Amino acid sequence: MQKLFHTKSIDDMLASRHDLKRTLHAKDLVFLGIGAIIGAGIFVITGVAAAKYAGPAIMLSFVLAGIACGLAALCYSELTAMIPISGSAYSYAYATMGELVAWIIGWDLVLEYAMSASTVAIGWSGYFTSLLGGLGIHLPKMLTASLFMAEGGFINLPAALVVGALTYVLIIGIRESASANNIMVLVKVAMVVLFILAGMGSVKASNWTPFMPFGFSGMMTGAGVIFFAYIGFDAVSTAAQEAINPETDVPKGIITSLAICTVLYLLTAAVLTGMISYKELNVPAPIAAALHHIGQGDLAFIIEVGALIGMTSVILVLLLGQSRVFYTMGRDGLLPPWASEVHAEYKTPHVSTLTVGAAVALVAAFVPLNVLSELVSLGTLFAFGVVCGGVLLLRRSRPDLERPFHCPGVPYVPVAGMAACAYLMFNLPFTTWLLFVVWMAAGLGVYFKYSIHHSEMRKPG
Ligand code: ALA
Repeated sequence: MQKLFHTKSIDDMLASRHDLKRTLHAKDLVFLGIGAIIGAGIFVITGVAAAKYAGPAIMLSFVLAGIACGLAALCYSELTAMIPISGSAYSYAYATMGELVAWIIGWDLVLEYAMSASTVAIGWSGYFTSLLGGLGIHLPKMLTASLFMAEGGFINLPAALVVGALTYVLIIGIRESASANNIMVLVKVAMVVLFILAGMGSVKASNWTPFMPFGFSGMMTGAGVIFFAYIGFDAVSTAAQEAINPETDVPKGIITSLAICTVLYLLTAAVLTGMISYKELNVPAPIAAALHHIGQGDLAFIIEVGALIGMTSVILVLLLGQSRVFYTMGRDGLLPPWASEVHAEYKTPHVSTLTVGAAVALVAAFVPLNVLSELVSLGTLFAFGVVCGGVLLLRRSRPDLERPFHCPGVPYVPVAGMAACAYLMFNLPFTTWLLFVVWMAAGLGVYFKYSIHHSEMRKPG
């Protein structure tokens, strides 16, 4: 029983990390980060968060969520440079808190990566069908909404198909996936910058008053809601095993992508709430709505296409992250051996990628996941908190290990990171917590039924 808390040796982890292809440069890693970050959060959720919770103070909500993520990013950077393998938070937990906590985090990461990939795929489908509608092509409801959605359909086919196509790209190669991601990132960043430049001239200071119509607590709730927009920077650490120089380049990828996106988010939020009253932002495509408001309908169309491309890259990188975590859990014996199989030619964990792709597509096709974005945030905050704790624990237990990146201000930064994550977690609704507990209980069931009996670490010799 006490083996539940046995930690895995970092030296063993590092010794067995050579079967994936290492082709990613620092630039690819920064682009992977931006690829995962800018998506449904800024293009969809910002509007609702401003209209319902924060008002123009959504700018401050972005600052607060950005600070919480920045603290976690510094902690991720220390651990990923020290343990550059695909398991990310799961592996850091295995090295610091033992097998049971590692399993819990691995299971929890499904909420962050797989579940948010499904959520963003549903957002993608919404944009796609609305753009087609604008071109006069109307797809039947039966094929664009799930059985359980308010609008009533049967299967969300566009959402499933986009996941299927991206799964294929991920299987044929990490280089191919990174190149596709690089192009999509350039397009989406260009779109965000274009929006900022086009909207700047139409900002009216009167739209910023009252600044905090829902008070301080509204601004804080807004921070919890738009936290979703930042999710994904940590996916860079799941590509560590495929980076050429992970020790220096993965921290660069994490911190630079987060910094660039934070600046873009703040400017977007400021311009958006300055162009149009926050009261009019409770719409599925708030950025397009603001552009229509200032008579820039054509630009709105172009930016909607850009948003679609942006969400595509988010799904791609989140699928990548999930398949890499499963691959590592398979290697450790906590998931069946198929999870860690590597394709002889493509050098990608193809079975794990295919399984993740199929599950994400199925969920996106049939489940109305919009309501579950809060569950995604809760799961992610939990993982971030554990990573911050991991920095503290490893500084104590393994002070001897080489740390190519030092998280500054230890213990204050990790402690502040944990406090910020806990605060945002406790602001989430009770029902979200209930779902979280149910998900985790199911995970424990799988652990005690399967993983505990197959764990590599427990095998004699
Ligand atoms: N941060 C990602 C998005 O906003 C998950 O789409």
